[in-house]
Amino acid sequence: MDVDAEGEALVFTSSGSGAMEACVSSMFEKGEDVTIVCAGKFGKRWVEMAQQYGLHTHIVNVDWGKSINVDALMQEIKPTTRGLLIQACESSTGVYHPIEKIAEALPENDEMFFIVDAITAVGVHDISMKRHKIDALVCGSQKALMCPPGLAVLGLSPRAIKHIEMTECQSLYFSVQKNLVAQRKATTPFTPAVSLILSLHKALEMMEAEGKERIFARCLLMRKMVREACSEIGLQLLNSDEDASFGITSVCLPEGVVGKEWIQSLKNNYGLWIAGGQDDLEGKIFRIAHMGAIRPDDILWGIEKIEHTLASHLPKAKENRGLQRAREILKECQ
Ligand SMILES: Cc1ncc(COP(=O)(O)O)c(C=O)c1O
Repeated sequence: MDVDAEGEALVFTSSGSGAMEACVSSMFEKGEDVTIVCAGKFGKRWVEMAQQYGLHTHIVNVDWGKSINVDALMQEIKPTTRGLLIQACESSTGVYHPIEKIAEALPENDEMFFIVDAITAVGVHDISMKRHKIDALVCGSQKALMCPPGLAVLGLSPRAIKHIEMTECQSLYFSVQKNLVAQRKATTPFTPAVSLILSLHKALEMMEAEGKERIFARCLLMRKMVREACSEIGLQLLNSDEDASFGITSVCLPEGVVGKEWIQSLKNNYGLWIAGGQDDLEGKIFRIAHMGAIRPDDILWGIEKIEHTLASHLPKAKENRGLQRAREILKECQ
């Protein structure tokens, strides 16, 4: 997947969090100041990791379900700030933080690095390391890249690489320094997950064949289908249109529906996998993914099951109005 980069990319044998940890442990030294946007479970993960490695964390909390206000964020960046850490898509709530607007507003500071967890944004949104001034971009194999879990990819800008080469790494296995040295000798410091790398290679070929503009448009279309179908049957969406990511829709659970039981029954009865809320949002929302291998027809099928199983709670769901609306949107776009 082309993320418009000019530095180097490293592949780690781990889930996506491994590349997050590689970043934190290889780019910063104990006691350095970092600003972290915390708008959900994965923002909290940046905080935990930064604190684990002794960084001084300045946390910018955002209400769960909302994306960051860029002007407010800029007030939280000081001349001593060495890193700004954020999610592109905060998947626990479904928001997309406006990476492009943040990049435009960032102060000039040669000693500050912009670090973006794009685990659920690469292959969904048009992320450009160059245009968006991203120094470290974190990605995982199991979301829009359509592979099994187990690979994390870290994209680094030339400026980040220069800095890392002069920084002492605090981790052994997740040392970016060690990985860069090995990569230049066309090897890896530890045994690579060869089968997963081959699967990623295949997935990237498939994505290239579809074309990135078509992929982004497909995600956006599925988002529209899901959002409008849910609204049509009286479900409340967690995110505004402006804040909502292209790849995940968060929907408030209707009164009287026990999220865990309902989600499990969808799995057991139909093989439909949707996700519940996490941490603060547990039992309050459900989340529908529309990225990667998922196609508009899958969305129609999922909406039908969701509507059918919620019919006793939502009068409009009895009439299949959500499915009808999703079909109309699909037809308009074909
Ligand atoms: C935005 C985001 N960041 C980080 C993670 C953690 O990734 P992993 O579970 O692959 O370690 C996830 C996983 O869902 C995610 O969606």
